[in-house]
Amino acid sequence: MRSRTFGRTGRRVSEIGFGAWAIGAGWGHVDESDAIAALNEALDCGMTFIDTADVYGDGRSERLIARVLKERGGERPFVATKAGRRLPAQVVAGYSRDNLNAWIDRSLKNLEVERLDLVQLHCPPTDLYYHPEVFGYLDDLVTAGKIANYGVSVERVEEALKAIDYPGVVSVQIIFNIFRLRPADVFFDLAKRRNVAVIARVPLASGLLAGKFKPETKFEETDHRQFNRHGEAFDVGETFSGVPYDVGLAAVEKIRPLVGSGSMAQFALRWILMFDAVTVVIPGARNAAQARSNAQAAQPQALGPETMAELRAIYDRDTRPHVHQRW
Ligand SMILES: NC(=O)c1ccc[n+]([C@@H]2O[C@H](COP(=O)([O-])OP(=O)(O)OC[C@H]3O[C@@H](n4cnc5c(N)ncnc54)[C@H](OP(=O)(O)O)[C@@H]3O)[C@@H](O)[C@H]2O)c1
Repeated sequence: MRSRTFGRTGRRVSEIGFGAWAIGAGWGHVDESDAIAALNEALDCGMTFIDTADVYGDGRSERLIARVLKERGGERPFVATKAGRRLPAQVVAGYSRDNLNAWIDRSLKNLEVERLDLVQLHCPPTDLYYHPEVFGYLDDLVTAGKIANYGVSVERVEEALKAIDYPGVVSVQIIFNIFRLRPADVFFDLAKRRNVAVIARVPLASGLLAGKFKPETKFEETDHRQFNRHGEAFDVGETFSGVPYDVGLAAVEKIRPLVGSGSMAQFALRWILMFDAVTVVIPGARNAAQARSNAQAAQPQALGPETMAELRAIYDRDTRPHVHQRW
């Protein structure tokens, strides 16, 4: 597994990490044994970066990570968590010093550590980025030794541009995949110049880019691909990247002939790794087989310029009209 430097922290992390949302909740039923096997497989395959959040299964994801890391012992991976979504309503005033302290104390307990490697504000309202006092509270948590670093997880590219004005922001997590490539056009150069780490999330467009879904595919009631298809519970961009399901399926069929050896999921991950501004890509995995397959995408073969151009053309024609001006 190759690694990249996580921005100004200087930490080296595997270029493919483990997205730990599905082992928390929100993706239908995931057995605890499958979740634990997925994590172990990811670590066995050399992943040294895990992304979780305090709200994934109301702490289940964080607690499972703590349990697996304790059982394995040895060198710890870099564990990034998030805070902010425990608020009943997303208002800037909710990101108070007291709330941040309480959320972080809870994550410290769930993850069984004395200091968190990275805390990301979890898709706060756009207006939060115009409240420097919140970043001051985070600076104070660094000074207090409760968190080593902080970053942001954003919905909109403009939020990313504003967030990295704050010198303490070491990383930006953003949706970036074959269906959502505006960050590469607008944000990546600046992130590189400022040495800000970029975490590419939803790399498989919630599984669409694995090429296995059909128009009639059914998802469980407790899977956001069923209950959030139109943004009923949270930002619709988190579900299939905000691309209408039928549009996504049609685009997948145009991508399929370009895939070559390996699976389409691996091809989609490799495409992301072609962008050197990306520090780590974090596919979600719900079992050991997916974790292994995702880890194996980190092979040195580059995609050729013709393939990159064809994928860009598919974006421009098929998905761009649905997403480019929205996020
Ligand atoms: N607001 C935020 O900050 C935020 C929001 C979303 C995600 N994230 C983070 O980003 C991570 C990744 O995003 P995501 O989980 O939403 O979406 P994703 O990585 O695009 O898709 C994950 C899904 O793709 C399928 N899959 C994964 N590996 C596969 C493989 N090798 N072959 C075939 N199918 C495969 C699985 O779906 P099946 O169920 O169909 O098997 C899996 O649940 C999350 O786990 C989380 O850590 C953060």
